[in-house]
Amino acid sequence: MPTFIVLLGPPGVGKGTQAKILAEQTGLVHVSSGELFRENLKNQTELGKLAKAYIDKGELVPDDVTISMIRERLSRPDCKMGAILDGFPRTPVQADALEKMLSEFNGQVDTVPYITGEESVLVERVSGRWTCRASGHIYHEKFSPPHQLGVCDVDGSELYQRDDDKVETVKKRIQVYRNQTMPLVDYYRQRGKLVEIDGMQAVEVVNAALLTCCMN
Ligand code: AP5
Ligand code: MG
Repeated sequence: MPTFIVLLGPPGVGKGTQAKILAEQTGLVHVSSGELFRENLKNQTELGKLAKAYIDKGELVPDDVTISMIRERLSRPDCKMGAILDGFPRTPVQADALEKMLSEFNGQVDTVPYITGEESVLVERVSGRWTCRASGHIYHEKFSPPHQLGVCDVDGSELYQRDDDKVETVKKRIQVYRNQTMPLVDYYRQRGKLVEIDGMQAVEVVNAALLTCCMN
């Protein structure tokens, strides 16, 4: 049976950071809806152009296009053993769609680590974030700086700051998260999948907690 892990939590709590580490540790593929949108944006696809209007405002991209993008990604051969989903689902409609599509792939959502964080810290984390242009490796100017300013330690590519990481947009994203994504906490709790993890701890401590809950 494949393994599907859904990382749930507010913007800036560390989903992407943790997903990348966990992917290396488990061999599962990291599937980030945000990164898929940004890739489409970079390649100027129709999907990218459509998504940009929503991302720039800190709003969610409509469910139907998001669901079909994820369906296409999860149907590729590298997801045969499962995936770590980062940023999807984000609405109950997306969560229902995920259940349906995973049953087609003979899988199910196994565990939903719910990473929690305080709003003031989230804003500080996001506004100091630098992301690698080539592969999305994540840094923070204060908490996890690269060895050389503006250069990715892993692949030497340029580091950039995301357009939607302006303080005003981050606050909007947190509000959207509260209204549209928080219902998933109960959704997965009722299904016995939710494991709460304190995201305000050091990266290694959060990773250890994640490993424990995902490997059991
Ligand atoms: P997305 O890219 O998913 O953004 P997000 O959910 O807002 O989350 P972030 O990427 O900002 O934060 P993160 O939790 O990954 O934190 P990170 O590890 O980077 O989505 C962007 C947009 O795309 C959305 O607004 C929406 O428009 C659209 N979209 C995406 N998915 C969608 C969907 N399913 N439906 C509809 N629309 C969708 O860490 C943040 C910073 O903190 C980094 O600098 C990092 O170095 C640092 N850090 C991490 N952990 C720690 C730690 N423990 N201690 C100290 N610093 C830390
Ligand atoms: Mg992210």
